[in-house]
Amino acid sequence: MRAAIAGTGGYLPERSLSNDELAAWKGLDTSDDWIVERTGIRRRHIAAEGETASDMGAKAALAALAQAGADVGEVDAILVATSTPDSAFPATAVRIQGKLGVTRGFAFDIAAACTGFVYALGVADALLHTGQARGVLVIGTEVYSRILDWTDRGTCVLFGDGAGAVFLRATPAGEGRGLLSTHMHSDGRFGDILVVDGGAGSTGGTGVVRMAGREVFKHAVTKLAAAVDEALAANGLGHDDVTWLVPHQANIRIIEAMGKKLHLPLDRVVVTVDRHANTSAASIPLALAEATRDGRIRRGDLVLMEAIGGGLTWGAALARF
Ligand code: UT7
Repeated sequence: MRAAIAGTGGYLPERSLSNDELAAWKGLDTSDDWIVERTGIRRRHIAAEGETASDMGAKAALAALAQAGADVGEVDAILVATSTPDSAFPATAVRIQGKLGVTRGFAFDIAAACTGFVYALGVADALLHTGQARGVLVIGTEVYSRILDWTDRGTCVLFGDGAGAVFLRATPAGEGRGLLSTHMHSDGRFGDILVVDGGAGSTGGTGVVRMAGREVFKHAVTKLAAAVDEALAANGLGHDDVTWLVPHQANIRIIEAMGKKLHLPLDRVVVTVDRHANTSAASIPLALAEATRDGRIRRGDLVLMEAIGGGLTWGAALARF
């Protein structure tokens, strides 16, 4: 059996905040020109007061189930990648289980920052292969607006809120669809270059994102390049076989570098960073939802996903739609 991506869904909060609005904030000292030139970001969505990761994730999940033609009775497991859970526990995944009205199976969260969705795909694939689940919802949902220092121009302009989801269904391998492989990596030596300290078990900390941007950038270019090579080699495939690159959306310069490495023109790369900014674990499933709905990604397409984030964590996944 293979884990076929049977449906995708996305949810973005109503409020969209432009670079110009940020630039007008007293004391932030930024500009639309700087943000666009260095990151490709033009706007980002911000959750409403009281709107949580589980609220958004449940909406994205319902959209994914609808596209798959599945009802909640098909859901055996719910995996949620998030760095901004509703609470320390219950897990946001279990909150979503409750909101969807799923009364069986199991649900848990995965903490791998911006790589969380790729990790969650890897775990879901393993659950399907070991027969522990036949239908798995994999969700990335984030409210980074609540963990940003809104006076730090080096980080607050980079992130946005939103949720994306896929519904994976066990499907006979002979059909040719599904996840081909997933590749997960981490290296704790680099934990402090992208970090949110503080939190439920902490003895201190600020509770906001801090990032050594230039250092993370350098790791991103080399580690993502290695991860995509690893994914293709594991399946005996080459750059030419890739129909779509669906990268984590942190910075258009990193995305362009990866497209170039794969010899893919930018019109074969799904880009949302301009409108969504970096939604961390939600960025890949949001991009998948957009590109399957507007008809870019079709049945039979080979889709390569990659991400890097706090940990450091990084990885790649390859799927035949
Ligand atoms: O999703 C997880 C993975 N994250 C990433 O992949 C992010 C990787 N890093 C990046 O995308 C980039 O490093 C950033 C977008 C974060 C920063 O771009 P950069 O080209 O590396 O800029 P920099 O940090 O080297 O800063 C250049 C200058 C600095 O001023 P000085 O020291 O040259 O005078 C910054 O203070 O730009 C300044 N700056 C800003 N200026 C206006 C930093 N942020 C801003 C800002 N507006 N928002």
